[in-house]
Amino acid sequence: MNTIDLVELGRMFNNTWEKPTPLFQDDQHAVYWLGVPEPSAFRCNTYLIVDGQEALLVDPGGRGSFEFVRMRVGQIIPPHKVSGLIVCHQDPDVAASMVDWLTLYPEIRIITSIRTNILLRHYGSRDYSYISINENPVYTFESGKRLKFLEAPFLHFPGAFATWDETSKFLFSGDVWAAIDTEWRLVVEDFCNHIAKMNLFHLDYMASNIATRGFVKSLVPYDINAILPQHGSVIPKKFVHKAMEYLENLVCGLDLIYPRDDNG
Ligand SMILES: [Fe+2]
Ligand SMILES: [Fe+2]
Repeated sequence: MNTIDLVELGRMFNNTWEKPTPLFQDDQHAVYWLGVPEPSAFRCNTYLIVDGQEALLVDPGGRGSFEFVRMRVGQIIPPHKVSGLIVCHQDPDVAASMVDWLTLYPEIRIITSIRTNILLRHYGSRDYSYISINENPVYTFESGKRLKFLEAPFLHFPGAFATWDETSKFLFSGDVWAAIDTEWRLVVEDFCNHIAKMNLFHLDYMASNIATRGFVKSLVPYDINAILPQHGSVIPKKFVHKAMEYLENLVCGLDLIYPRDDNG
């Protein structure tokens, strides 16, 4: 049971806070927003899932933010306790710091899709252990608590995926529901306003409505308490339904580049 009210947290959030921000907390399990508070419209979020003595980083980030993220992790647990990096696709803003993590902590496992892993090797790390989310769609912590990996094909990479945490019921959505924003808030307060910010990203990056609608359909079985994207604001439960509608009706990517010509 989460004692943190995300809407209230968003209202109180002050970006000068010099500590990690818990988004979910119960006896054994916690989810933190680690930042990164860069002054950019294209800011990147990194999250940490802690379960007992285990910890996984979600969307670890670029090399430029490695020391900051490691410092933030160290405010919660010793960084060597991070046992895995969940890398939802290979873009440098998501994945490049894996090189730095593996240099310091070579035991870390990379949790990613087969297609992503083929490209990750080009960052230069080769001898790491890797868990394929396609072959292992469920990750079980020592406590028995589970994460479920949900493929998100062509959103925007063919091998992209999201992660659903069965305990917090948070969906770590990577670039899906990402937003570009100069007036960033930690938590979405006005969903109508937020649509324009998501459009700035989705119209160009996401493949097509077939992909976005198909992904929404695949999420139907999951109870989602909040959406935690890699860019922009956290979408709290009260807007999750609207977020699904947004993707379901989105006209993007190839729909715009090659509009359907009904006259042949
Ligand atoms: Fe990306
Ligand atoms: Fe991204």
